[in-house]
Parts: sequence; C-alpha cells; structure tokens
Amino acid sequence: MNAKRFFKIKNGENYRLISIPKTFEEFKTNFDTKYDSFVYKDPEGDDIVFSNEEEYGLLLDLIPEMKKHIKITGISEPLSQTKKKILKTAAKTNDDSSHPGVNLRKVAMIGCGFVGSASCFALMQSGMFSEMVLIDADFNKADGEALDISHGLPFAKPMKIYAGNYDDITDAAIIIVTAGANQKPGETRLDLVKKNVKIHRSINAELKKRKINGILLIVANPVDILTSVAQKLSGLPPERVFGSGTVLDTARFKYLLGEHLAIDSRSVHAFIIGEHGDSEIAAWSSANVSGISINEFCEMRGHFSHEESMIRIADEVKNAAYQIIAKKHATYYGIAMSVRRICECIIRNEKSILSVSSAMDGQFGITGVCLSMPAVVGANGVETLVPISLSDKEKEKLVESANTLKKVLNDALNEK
Ligand SMILES: NC(=O)c1ccc[n+]([C@@H]2O[C@H](COP(=O)([O-])OP(=O)(O)OC[C@H]3O[C@@H](n4cnc5c(N)ncnc54)[C@H](O)[C@@H]3O)[C@@H](O)[C@H]2O)c1
Repeated sequence: MNAKRFFKIKNGENYRLISIPKTFEEFKTNFDTKYDSFVYKDPEGDDIVFSNEEEYGLLLDLIPEMKKHIKITGISEPLSQTKKKILKTAAKTNDDSSHPGVNLRKVAMIGCGFVGSASCFALMQSGMFSEMVLIDADFNKADGEALDISHGLPFAKPMKIYAGNYDDITDAAIIIVTAGANQKPGETRLDLVKKNVKIHRSINAELKKRKINGILLIVANPVDILTSVAQKLSGLPPERVFGSGTVLDTARFKYLLGEHLAIDSRSVHAFIIGEHGDSEIAAWSSANVSGISINEFCEMRGHFSHEESMIRIADEVKNAAYQIIAKKHATYYGIAMSVRRICECIIRNEKSILSVSSAMDGQFGITGVCLSMPAVVGANGVETLVPISLSDKEKEKLVESANTLKKVLNDALNEK
C-alpha cells in the first residue's frame, strides 16, 4: 500500500500538495496563512479537515499510530476514529453548528422503502454530504439500496454510502426517519397511527440511548403525530426535532397554482398549513405572486371564478396522495425532493421559510401538538415560527386541525 503522506491545501477551488511540516508554526510560516482550512489527505484518499493548532497537533500525534495500522489492516478502525475525532473538533469551531459531535457532512436514513430510498437518491445527487448511512429493519434492503445508489456516484460527487446500524449514526448531522408502514389504497394517514407509533417508540429509544446531537427529521406518517412522539422520546431539544409536515403539500399547491396561472411555481408564495392530512388548510388569505394577491393575479391571467378554482386546487392538493396511491401504490419522488430541500436549508444554514411540522407554543391559541406553520429553518433546526396572517375562517380551521391531531396524539400516547 502506498503510505505516502501529504497535505492538500485548499484555496477556493484549487488544491496544492505539500509534505507534512512538524509543527503548526512551521506550517504557518512556510505557507501562506490566507488559506483558511487545511486538509490532510490520508493514504486511502480520504480528507481530514482541520483549521487550528489543536487539531493539527492531534493529527501529528496520531500519524504514527495511523501508519502502523494502515500498513497492517488497510482502512483501519483507528484511522476512521481519528477522522471522526478531528471532524468533531472542527465542528465545535463552526458557528453554525454549536453542537459537539456533529459531523455536518453526514446524513442518516432510517427506513429504506420507497420514500427512504428515493430520498437517499435525491441526497446523493445533491452533493451535500460525504457520508450517508442507511438503516432498515431488513438489512438486505438497506444494503441493496446503498449499493444501487452508490453505482451512480461516478456521475455525481464522491461520498460513502453504506448500510449500517445505530452506532454508525451517532454523529450524523441529520437523521431522517421514513420507517413505518405506508398508506394502503383508501387508508388515511391517521389510520397508520398504531402501527407507526409502536415502530417510532423503538427508534426513538435507540436514538436516546446514544445521546445523538444532530437534527431529527421525521417523514413517516402520520408525520405530525410521529414528530410529537419524537419530541417527547428522542431526548433532543424541541427545535432540533421536526417533521417534513406540509412541505410536500405546499410544493403541490405551488405547482398547481403555477400551472393554473401559467407562471413559474417558484414565483408563487403560498402555504398549506395544519395537519399533513385531511384537515390541512390552504392559506389563501396570504397567498400571493410577487406581492400581488392571488385573486388579483388570477384576474391578470384571465381567471375570474375564484371560489370554484380555490376549491378545486385545494382539493387536488389534499387528495394528491390518495390519487397517486390508487395508481402506483406509493408516493415518493415529491417527498424525496422535499427532504432534499429541508436538508439543504439545515446544512447551508439558509434560514429559509418552510412549512415544517413543529411544536406549537401558543400561536393562534394552540399548544401541546406539532403541526405545520411557516417556520425559519437553519443549522439549529426550527428557529422560529412565522405568524402569517390568516382569515377568521382559516384560524378556525387551524384550531380544528390541531384539536383533531391532539386527540389522536393523546390516544396514541396512552396506548400501551
Ligand atoms: N411526509 C410525507 O409527506 C410523506 C410522503 C410519502 C410517504 N410518507 C410516509 O413515509 C413512510 C414510508 O413510506 P414508504 O412508501 O417508503 O413505505 P415502505 O413500506 O416502502 O418502506 C418502509 C420501510 O420501513 C422499514 N421499517 C419498518 N420498521 C422499521 C424499523 N423499526 N426500523 C427501520 N426500518 C423499519 C421497512 O422495512 C421498509 O423498508 C410511510 O409512513 C408513508 O406514509 C410520508
């Protein structure tokens, strides 16, 4: 094995290779300090990033040990441990993630069925992460998906994709949970409660045992109930546990409005709020296109039957999943793109506004339940909810939606 050691110095997109100076001081005097991050390239081709003296020292101390093990065993345990240690220290110095032990380049997926595997595929293509761990109750399913998705890597960006277990994901920046039964034709999302609460109780117990520090993103249904369950059982602070909520429904809403108005759906600003399910609400009173109210814009595009169009579009959004499930038994591409978008907001600390599901804290008089409201999402999870203005009718429906969810949640939590 080629055990040559060198540094790869990064300056913008350019790299330069140098041999290893003995101290950080020597390193700094010999090389231009404008470089802000330093990357050690280990003999296996992996990058180890460090940015200060402490981390550099740790690296030098560990080189003899690394060398010893590399020669004997190839990719060795101590080498991967070393890498974890250094990345952990680096994470501490990053303002955007004050959470120790979190590797911002690592994502985990629990549940690798239609939704989990499609989301992994979307994440692989995004180039956002350099490591992705897949967990499923059926190990072969996770392993097969990991292999299949990995074979697309020559057309994307390098990363490690593998099937693993809970010990492999303790440092993941984002843990996504899609595990659980999906809706069968005719079944509502709330019908899934019993089966999936049981599965999620056991998943949260595994996460709590390992004191994870990343962000927990719940996708399995009923997503609002399972998010509330995870907030109670995962051991994480509430802002770091949230659900994909109505991010998908909002995307469907924007897509249909874009089609109706013959404009780019990204120029539509409109939200579906409340339950991700039958009691969800289209927030028409705040919907607009580039600041122009939705009805005014409709008229500019030759549509005057507002009431009729609003009912049709809101129904199409609400029934989209039923319609797709009746035709192909599952929905997964739309949610996969939603998962990718949520991860992007977290990893890039975007503070974008997404209708994720999180705990209500008195907004519109609602407490004690998770549901979707526009929220600022960044590196630390849900920063704050955005109090959009709602009509009296919309407020009433939101409170009804919350009450429906609360009842289901209380029943689910009281069930043994
Ligand atoms: N939030 C959304 O917008 C949205 C959209 C679509 C689907 N979903 C939901 O996502 C979930 C998954 O849907 P799907 O179509 O992928 O279902 P699926 O049946 O194809 O996959 C579920 C996977 O979970 C695994 N699993 C079950 N118990 C597990 C456990 N304890 N640990 C690890 N893995 C376990 C199963 O082996 C299976 O591979 C469903 O609840 C579905 O309703 C949510």
